[in-house]
Amino acid sequence: MRLATPTGFATEVFLQEAPEPDLLPEGSWTLVGDLHLREAWTGAGLPEPSHALWVAVSEEEKKLRTILPWLEHWARVPLHRDATVVALGGGVLSDMTGLASALYLRGVAWQVWPTTLLAMADAALGGKTGVDLAAGKNLVGAFHPPRRLVACTSFLESLPIRHLENGRWELIKTALIQGEMAWATEMLQDTPVKVPWVERALAYKAGVVHRDPREAGERRLLNLGHTLGHALEAASGYDLLHGEAVGLGLLGSCLLTEELGLKAFPSAFLEALAQRLAPLAPKIAPWSACLPLLLRDKKAKHVPGTAGAEPTTEIHCILPRSGEPAIQRTLTPEAWESPHARLIDLLDREATRA
Ligand SMILES: NC(=O)c1ccc[n+]([C@@H]2O[C@H](COP(=O)([O-])OP(=O)(O)OC[C@H]3O[C@@H](n4cnc5c(N)ncnc54)[C@H](O)[C@@H]3O)[C@@H](O)[C@H]2O)c1
Repeated sequence: MRLATPTGFATEVFLQEAPEPDLLPEGSWTLVGDLHLREAWTGAGLPEPSHALWVAVSEEEKKLRTILPWLEHWARVPLHRDATVVALGGGVLSDMTGLASALYLRGVAWQVWPTTLLAMADAALGGKTGVDLAAGKNLVGAFHPPRRLVACTSFLESLPIRHLENGRWELIKTALIQGEMAWATEMLQDTPVKVPWVERALAYKAGVVHRDPREAGERRLLNLGHTLGHALEAASGYDLLHGEAVGLGLLGSCLLTEELGLKAFPSAFLEALAQRLAPLAPKIAPWSACLPLLLRDKKAKHVPGTAGAEPTTEIHCILPRSGEPAIQRTLTPEAWESPHARLIDLLDREATRA
């Protein structure tokens, strides 16, 4: 099923159960696929180009050194500038393949066939591609939207449950950005992930990135949960998955909203969030480990002190509001200290209760 997207949107979006060979590129193409998916791909009767690359994927190897041999391989094939690259995998593989496609011959077309819930609901759409540097995640990249996104839910059958739950947090984030409390509450329950949730998230993100492709304004809202989330993710030594860290960041943001006197969330909702997040409590790093990471946040701005005053740091933050759309605010990193402490308390309380 092709989803409706804004007129002139760079990516055609398909969401369906089974893969269809007709959705592959018409002309010459190649594939970069996650090894975990090779059997599912060939088992579904999908063609495998002779020069396909099947690769092992890990966040630790989301590096420039991983994509360099792919570029050399394409040049040896050789892959021409009118060819299309197909990326089959989760967010790590699609971010790297998208970047390699942006770099090869100064940019060739690509398609993305996301295979994790997180990639289907978020990472594969929007044209952000990239790799990590030692100094931080996704610090090198390019905006290079795929021509087509094909999300086939049958690929999720082999996805470990932890990764399914990881993707659920990006869906809950989407609901909270829009202030959609009923939808967020439904997703917090113990029901399996539903395809219409993914459809709704894709439709919302398509609209946002179409209006603000370069993240100059509205698109920043998609970073809800990411300020504290990124710090917790890095401070855990990436023991927390990206979506799990975003989930913790969402609860932290709801608590910060309350402290700033904005539209606070009902305690039953905060408890439902805390209940789902409670198993992650042992992975939450202390505030002393989070603060230096917040100071180095990509969205942090260092403001020189005037008239001999100390320089300060400000971070662009997104704050959710109960039943209303999220808003953007500039805050000091220290504003997160109390929500961080309350997050730990709430999760401990839920863990003791369980
Ligand atoms: N570009 C963006 O806008 C954007 C947005 C959000 C996240 N991201 C990036 O996405 C990455 C996280 O992506 P992810 O959560 O998809 O993780 P991932 O790509 O690391 O995949 C998770 C694990 O599942 C395996 N896997 C993938 N699909 C599978 C399947 N169907 N069955 C069995 N195993 C499967 C992978 O090999 C990997 O081991 C991060 O690097 C993050 O920075 C990018």
